Amino acid sequence: MHPDQKPVHYSDYLNLDSILSAQKPESAKYGKMAHDEMLFIIIHQTYELWFKQILFEINSIIEIFEEKPLPSHRLQTVVARFERVTEILKLLVDQVRIIETMTPLDFMDFRDYLVPASGFQSLQFKLLETKLGIKAINRTEMEKNFYQSRLKPEDRATLQAAEEQPSLFELVDHWLERMPFTKKGKFNFWNDYEKAVKIMLDQDETIIKNNPSLDETRKQMELKNLEMTRNSFKSILDPTLFSEIKNTGAVKMSQNALQSAIFIHLFRDQPMLQLPYKILSLITDIDELLTTWRQRHAIMVHRLLGTKIGTGGSSGHEYLKKTTESNRVFIDLFNLATFLLPKSKIPALPANVLKTLDFEYDHSKGN
Ligand code: HEM
Repeated sequence: MHPDQKPVHYSDYLNLDSILSAQKPESAKYGKMAHDEMLFIIIHQTYELWFKQILFEINSIIEIFEEKPLPSHRLQTVVARFERVTEILKLLVDQVRIIETMTPLDFMDFRDYLVPASGFQSLQFKLLETKLGIKAINRTEMEKNFYQSRLKPEDRATLQAAEEQPSLFELVDHWLERMPFTKKGKFNFWNDYEKAVKIMLDQDETIIKNNPSLDETRKQMELKNLEMTRNSFKSILDPTLFSEIKNTGAVKMSQNALQSAIFIHLFRDQPMLQLPYKILSLITDIDELLTTWRQRHAIMVHRLLGTKIGTGGSSGHEYLKKTTESNRVFIDLFNLATFLLPKSKIPALPANVLKTLDFEYDHSKGN
C-alpha cells in the first residue's frame, strides 16, 4: 500500500450509490409502476456500460493505428484488445434473450411513457458506428434525418467531431496499403497470381465443356457463370475496372489495401503475417457480431412491436432490418474469399521474399 493511500471502500470505488439509484421507471412517476420497466432500464444501462468499454478499447486501437510508422510490436496489443471487444459483443448478442422474457403486453404497460425516447438517441452507439467507419456520408438520407434530428445538439456536436477523425476503417485501409512484400525488385506477386488464376479457370472451363452430364443450356449457363468469375478476378487486378466498381459503392476498401488483405490470407502461415491475419480475422468477427446484434435486436423488436412504428418514429422492425445490411463496415473482408485460391494453386514466393516474411535469425548456425 502507498504511504499516502487512503483506504478504499468497495461501494465508493464503484460509485454504487449513483449506479444503483439510477433506475427511475417513468411508469412509477405516474403512479402505475410497470413491473417490466425495471428490466428495460437495467438492460439498456448495461448495454451502455459495455458500449463505453468497447469505445475505450476501439479508441485505444485507433491511437495505435495512428502511430507512424506503426511499430510491429504494437500489433499484439491490437489483437488482445480486439479479442476483448469480440468477447463483449458475444455477450451483447446473448443479452437480447433477457429482454425477450418481456412480452408485448408487458411492454405496452409502459411503452407510451417513453415517447419520443429511442435507441436512435444512443450517442455511444452512434459514436461506435462512426469510429468503426460508418460516417454520415455512408448513410441513407432517411437514416441520417431520423437520428440526427433526434439527438441533443451537444450530442450532435460530439458526433460531428468524431466524424472528422479518421475511423478504424480508414486507418486499417491505409495500414494495408502500406504493406510491403508483394513487390520486390523484378518480382510482382500479382503477375504470378494472374497466371495462376488463368490456369485454374481454364481448367474449370475444360471440365464444364467436357462434362457429358450437362445439356447445352446448362453448359452455357455454367460457362456464363465462369465468365463472371473471370471478371471478378480481373476487377481485383485491373485498376480501371476496380475504380469503376468502387465508384458504384460495391467495394469500400482501396485496391492496394484489398490486395494486401488477400495476400495476408493466402500467406497467413508466414511468421510476419500471422498477427496481421489475426487482426483481419478479428475485425471480420466484430463486423459479424455487430450485424448479428442488429439482426437479433430487429427480430426482438418485431416480436415486441409487430409492425408498429418505433418510439423514435421509424418503421420499427422494417427500418432495423434495412440498416442491418446497409451498415456493415468491413464487408470487403467477407467478399475477399472470392479472390482466394486453393492452397495447391497459390503461386510460390521467391526465396528473398520468403526471407523477409520469416523471423530474422540465421538458420545456418543450427539455431
Ligand atoms: C423492448 C425492447 C426494445 C425495443 C422495442 C426497441 C425498439 C427499437 C426501435 C423501434 C428502434 C428504431 C428507432 C425508433 O424508431 O425508435 C430502435 C433503435 C435502436 N435500439 Fe432498440 N429497442 C429495444 C431494446 C433495445 C436495447 C436493449 C438496446 C441496447 C442498447 C437498444 C438499442 C438500440 C439502438 C442503438 C438503436 C439505434 C439503431 C440504429 O440507429 O441503427 N434497443 N430500437
